[in-house]
Amino acid sequence: MSNNIEMKVVVITGASSGLGEAAARLLSEQGAIVVLGARRVDLIKSLADELSGRGGKALAVATDVTSRDQVKRLVDAAVQAYKRIDVMINNAGLMQQSPLERLKVNEWDNMIDVNIKGVLYGIAAALPYMQRQKSGHIINVSSVAGHKVTPAGTVYCATKHAVRVISEGLRQEVKPYNIRTTIISPGAVATELPSHITDPTSAANIQKFYEGFAIPADSFARAVAFAMSQPEDVDVNEILFRPTRQEL
Ligand SMILES: NC(=O)c1ccc[n+]([C@@H]2O[C@H](COP(=O)([O-])OP(=O)(O)OC[C@H]3O[C@@H](n4cnc5c(N)ncnc54)[C@H](OP(=O)(O)O)[C@@H]3O)[C@@H](O)[C@H]2O)c1
Repeated sequence: MSNNIEMKVVVITGASSGLGEAAARLLSEQGAIVVLGARRVDLIKSLADELSGRGGKALAVATDVTSRDQVKRLVDAAVQAYKRIDVMINNAGLMQQSPLERLKVNEWDNMIDVNIKGVLYGIAAALPYMQRQKSGHIINVSSVAGHKVTPAGTVYCATKHAVRVISEGLRQEVKPYNIRTTIISPGAVATELPSHITDPTSAANIQKFYEGFAIPADSFARAVAFAMSQPEDVDVNEILFRPTRQEL
């Protein structure tokens, strides 16, 4: 019986580390064709080689999600190589915590560009193909921070709230095209995400928070596989998960 993952063409942004890499590995293991996007092209190329070496099908395409053209090129490359796109995972993201009064405006801009505009560019690139196919699945990565607001997390939380709003609007709009939409909102997962925080106090607080109980990235990969593997008439709209020991 089909797992509804095998042979699906899955485009993943932010596939060079953390959640994106873990999803690429699990989905490839379960028979999906994975198309990997990120800026660190050496990492996605070696991941694609590794997955291909194990009998999978994988393609790496250098992609900066702040460029609409590059995101379009990523999705176009998937369709050119494999004739369709079944799943778009808008996963690339950046978390740079700091209190607003520090005025780290460049970091606010970066998070808005990657976490909001990057997701919109992913939708813009995938949607026309999925409309024509009359099938597809768009998975957007939000966060517990898309449900809560924390001090020093204001802009990051705003971007992750925006991802949920965009996803819900998308869900309603794509009904005529038989397209599924899923928001995945993880709690603390051990990845490189906290390493980009430049405010020393916020960095120390987050490090302490993650050290306490962050769970491995395959928790996210299994959530993706769960949403994808449902029958095509079942649309899992959101998965919110946390480490069992995470209170907030
Ligand atoms: N880890 C957690 O606790 C957690 C919790 C909730 C939500 N999330 C969300 O999960 C997603 C993945 O994060 P992660 O935890 O796996 O962190 P990560 O290990 O730092 O991975 C982030 C990924 O995003 C990519 N990325 C960043 N800026 C990019 C850009 N401009 N263009 C293309 N790719 C870019 C990075 O690739 P390159 O640097 O190679 O471009 C990397 O592959 C993010 O959206 C994050 O907000 C994570």
